[in-house]
Parts: sequence; structure tokens; C-alpha cells
Amino acid sequence: MKKLMAANWKMYKTWDEARDTAEALVKLTAPALSDDREVLVFPPFTALKGVADIVAGQKGFFVGGQDFYSAEEGAFTGEISPGMLEDAGASYGLTGHSERRHILGEDDAYIGQKTAYGLANGLNVILCVGEKIEERKGGSVEAVLERQIRAGVKDVPTDIAPNRLSIAYEPVWAIGTGEVAGPREIEDAHAFVRKILISVFGKKANEMRILYGGSVKPANCSEIIALDNVDGVLVGGASLDGESFSQIALA
Ligand code: PGA
Repeated sequence: MKKLMAANWKMYKTWDEARDTAEALVKLTAPALSDDREVLVFPPFTALKGVADIVAGQKGFFVGGQDFYSAEEGAFTGEISPGMLEDAGASYGLTGHSERRHILGEDDAYIGQKTAYGLANGLNVILCVGEKIEERKGGSVEAVLERQIRAGVKDVPTDIAPNRLSIAYEPVWAIGTGEVAGPREIEDAHAFVRKILISVFGKKANEMRILYGGSVKPANCSEIIALDNVDGVLVGGASLDGESFSQIALA
């Protein structure tokens, strides 16, 4: 299974900044990227097509949309469809990111609907899950992960190709805080995610990628990526700089 090294630029970067970052990333990364690695960038929508054009033709590079709506087109002010993302060069979509759950108020059912819709309409989807600090302290990490995953994949056909659906385990308390989860915490959570995926999709869930996200940096990436059941990373802050994310992608 190829490791997926994903950059989530969130609501950062003008077009000029996005172009400079994407160009630096390709220049530093493409010549050294091994065959068992893939690089995925989630730019803001305004830079998606431009970044897709920059990475086009670079082996192992992909672009994705940070969000999408579950309809093809229509009177949905402010929304964007999987087809529009694909038209701009995206092949991935993100669902369930903690900022969409906890700032924008998206619930499990809506995230499940989007995940299934994106997959049915041509996007590969990364479904993000993760517990808040009070949930970890209260001993409910597994209950939260199980609820988020089961609801998130509820309408995904069980015959889905395993490379099309990934899970990103992102403990909310580790996102943007500099506080990375410990190796034991990551391995335990990823093993549990794998167990739930197998219970839903059967053995082929062993070929679904499980990414870790939360304060991944060049200094900690090689240790994290070597852990059991860690098939990639989803990086926010440290992906905003081309050189920093290149070090992560090649770690
Ligand atoms: P971070 O963000 O790397 O800045 O912690 C991760 C994410 O939100 O995906």
C-alpha cells in the first residue's frame, strides 16, 4: 500500500502564495519521491485549478477539495459539487474534518451523506474522525471513533474499491496545538479504526489507508509514518511551507 502524504491548506493562501508553494513543493519533492509514496494537496477552492495544473503530469501527485456538497448542481449558494472539483483537476475530497464538525456544525449523518455522495460521484474520499480531549479523558475514544466511522460510511457500498476510501485519525486536541499524539495512542487508535473498517468492509479493509493527523512536522513524521497501521499523514500547519511539507512527504 502506498503511503499518502496529504497537505490541508485550510483557509490560507492567495493564488500567488499557492502557486509559489506548489511550485516549490514539486521542485523539491518530485525528483526524490519514491514509488511507495503519494502526495496530495488540498488547496483553498480559489487555488484548486491552478495547483492542479502545476502538479499535472507529476507522478504520484494529486489534488483534492477540502469540502463539497451532495448534489450535482442547483440553487445551493456557496456550495461546490464533486463534479466541479473534478473539472478543476481534483481527484480527492475531504469529509468530517474536525473544523467542519466543531466550528461549522456538521453532524455524523450529514458527513455520512457527503462521504457516500462523493464516492458515488467519482471522488476518492478521506473521512476524518477523532476525539476531543474531554472524550479521551472520559475514556470514550473508541466509542467516538466507532460512532463517527459507522455513521461516516453508512451508505458507502461494501464493494467499494479499497483505495478509494481512507480514514484520517485526527485527535482534535492534537490539531494545530503542537501536541502530537504519542506512538502508543496512535497505534491503538489506528488498530481500532482498522478493526471497525474490517467489520464493515471485510478483509479488503486491510488495503484501506488510515492516515494520522495532528501536529505532524518534519521532525516527527518519520517516526509516525513507521508506526503500525499508519498509511499516511494529513498535515495542516506544517504543510503551508513547500520546503517543510517536502521534508514530510519524503520522510
Ligand atoms: P495540523 O492540522 O497539522 O496543523 O495539526 C492537521 C489537520 O487539521 O488536518
